[in-house]
Amino acid sequence: LGVFLTVFALLFDFMKRRKKWSHYPPGPVSLPFIGTMLYVDFCNPHLSFNQLQKKFGNIFSLQNCWTNVVVLNGYKTVKEALVHRSEDFADRPYVPIYEHVGYGNKSEGIVIARYGHVWKELRKFTLSTLRNFGMGKKSLEDRVTEEAGFLCSAVSSEKGCPFDLRFLVNNAVCNVICTTIYGERFDYGDDTFKKLLHLFENSLNEEAGFLPQLLNVVPILLRIPGVPQKVFQGQKAFMDFIDVLINKHMETWNPAYIRDFSDAFLKEMEKGKTAEESGFNYNNLRLVTADLFAAGSETTSTTLRWAVLYMLLHPEIQSKVQAEIDKVIGRERPPTMKDQVSMPYTSAVIHEVQRYGDVVPIGLPHMTYRDTELQGFFIPKGTTIIINLSSVLKDETVWEKPNEFYPEHFLDANGQFVKPEAFLPFSAGRRACLGEQLAKLELFIFFTTLLQKFTFVLPEDQPRPWENGHFALTSSPHPYLVQAVPR
Ligand code: HEM
Repeated sequence: LGVFLTVFALLFDFMKRRKKWSHYPPGPVSLPFIGTMLYVDFCNPHLSFNQLQKKFGNIFSLQNCWTNVVVLNGYKTVKEALVHRSEDFADRPYVPIYEHVGYGNKSEGIVIARYGHVWKELRKFTLSTLRNFGMGKKSLEDRVTEEAGFLCSAVSSEKGCPFDLRFLVNNAVCNVICTTIYGERFDYGDDTFKKLLHLFENSLNEEAGFLPQLLNVVPILLRIPGVPQKVFQGQKAFMDFIDVLINKHMETWNPAYIRDFSDAFLKEMEKGKTAEESGFNYNNLRLVTADLFAAGSETTSTTLRWAVLYMLLHPEIQSKVQAEIDKVIGRERPPTMKDQVSMPYTSAVIHEVQRYGDVVPIGLPHMTYRDTELQGFFIPKGTTIIINLSSVLKDETVWEKPNEFYPEHFLDANGQFVKPEAFLPFSAGRRACLGEQLAKLELFIFFTTLLQKFTFVLPEDQPRPWENGHFALTSSPHPYLVQAVPR
């Protein structure tokens, strides 16, 4: 009877699974070995997804060689998955290449960490440490305001000549991360700072290259002796430099006086010394540091570069923002976050920059934590999930003019600021961007301080900059030159 019951149970389970799989999302025909990879333009994946969405609907499946992938599109679908079934979609896929950059086979840190105890502990700690950044004498807002002042001085020293804003904005945004982690900023000309940024840029370029993507899909190639060392030289150099900075910081560490994020983390490490399961260990300190750099700098500086580009292309919008700055803040005192509530037009412009700029068009990959169901489709545990954020920020059923720069998306009939629910540049749910508050603070303070001091114009001999982005993990503007005319 036992054997019969076991066979019956297994058969029943098999039939149930078969039935469920018949509800797996539709998608293009998968070819042997390469799956559906020919359907995706890896230079502009969000554009390919938009095409596939038209054919297969808001939930469709792909096959990345051997990996099952489901792509979610449109506000309604994304909200249902990330908000209403938050835990089902909270995991991250294992990314083989990161094991060779120091993330270990459990992919720790925060950004690519698997959903579980260590991720929860590190995320909670990092969020609360950033939120209560009263450590040291200055608040985070004070530090961002101070950095905005340095940024404006550096822009001034260009003396109204054409220049590429990218480097200065990058310096300013990376300095905010440095000040958060190490409690101090660097001069833009400081050798240590220049080395840090150089190594960081190399590591980002390396990560976005073709070879790492290939190694992720065919990880067996990572076993070829010498391959990981050769491919990840830049990443390794960046991590080694983080070690140098942390070790230097540890020399002056005093648990009675917490100066910054690193100090607070070191204190947790002391407390958790005996706890085996604790995520507070040295490796995670360096991984979370690298995560904050990687997730918090390029995203914010790219958004600011889009902001200035749109001001060049829409001088009438730039003038309206400046008029509001003059009215609410004036020309002398620095902007503060309190001003934001009295500045609906500026707030609308910043939000529209994020919506139309679409800086992280396909978010970060998620993975299903358990078997789940979405709008009648069965999605098994362990499926890689791509959240097409671009399709939410440009969802035709939500936005009046999805493919135009139109700040009125965020203004009601009385000119008051409103934020539609489909505004999800930071994603949503358990894995939503951890730095959202810091990013909003930086965007408002940097943008208003720059426009308070300068008018940005396109140099006469320069072609009109392109409005479409260049995709490499983030979608950034093609390089452009600008003239900053003092006001
Ligand atoms: C994750 C956007 C700035 C830290 C993310 C995700 C997006 C995003 C789309 C993926 C969410 C998901 O997987 O569903 C942005 C944008 C920014 C920005 C548009 C600026 C305009 C920042 C800043 C920091 C930061 C300033 C920190 C200093 C993180 C971290 C994660 C993350 C740690 C991973 C969260 C997790 O897996 O639990 N961000 N981000 N981001 N972001 Fe941001």
